[in-house]
Amino acid sequence: MNKNNEPCAPRLDKRLACAANFVREGATVADVGTDHAYLPIALCLSGRAVGGVVTDINKGPIDRASENIKAHGLEHRLCAMLTDGLCGAEKYLPTDITVLGMGGELIAGIISRAEWTKDRRIRLCLQPMTHAEILRKYLADNGYSIVDEALVREDKIYQIIVAEYSGRTEEYTLAELYFGRINIDRGGVELNDLLCSWERILSVRIAGKEGAGERADEERELQRQISEIKNKGETK
Ligand SMILES: C[S@@+](CC[C@H](N)C(=O)[O-])C[C@H]1O[C@@H](n2cnc3c(N)ncnc32)[C@H](O)[C@@H]1O
Repeated sequence: MNKNNEPCAPRLDKRLACAANFVREGATVADVGTDHAYLPIALCLSGRAVGGVVTDINKGPIDRASENIKAHGLEHRLCAMLTDGLCGAEKYLPTDITVLGMGGELIAGIISRAEWTKDRRIRLCLQPMTHAEILRKYLADNGYSIVDEALVREDKIYQIIVAEYSGRTEEYTLAELYFGRINIDRGGVELNDLLCSWERILSVRIAGKEGAGERADEERELQRQISEIKNKGETK
């Protein structure tokens, strides 16, 4: 609470703050899988977003979101909807859509069920907890171009992907699907640590598969591409 007994703007952690920075000034936001609605509340209170809609498929989270929205006096700017993904959110004409803290497959599914996001004016800010490679592949195959990316370190390294519909399909290498072409080009400590953690994951997977007499061609290829990226980084 501030000195006028009004609740303070929610303090965003680094992951949410990084995603917030990709939302454009004057946005009408749609925050999918909002849970507490901290991100859209902070965006409205800072003036970056004019308003919009928050959705969640579960009643507990959407009730929590509604309470928080009311507590901040934003009920005239943010509407809370109990719905699957973006179903029904189109009527609020969102310009910037945030889908954070869910699996990459689930995020891809949510976008695929909302054909109306194939609109060059709409920006998607996405943060997959797992399977970033499935999400990037979906975007690349379906005409969404990745316009920016970031790696954020908190308890682990999170990937944030910013995409806009361009109608062009894109070819990515395996490593680009997993870690992002823009992230790889930028390099840095977070990228290096992410690559090192994947080297450990891949060693275990390869040992498991090959120990069981199975082929691990994709894992070996990703391992090779990771070494190449790391070697290039060292010679930069
Ligand atoms: C881990 S929380 C993430 C909350 C917030 N977006 C964040 O990143 O801090 C995931 C939320 O997504 C919601 N969710 C899962 N599947 C969904 C779907 N298909 N449509 C809308 N919400 C969904 C869950 O109910 C949950 O509240």
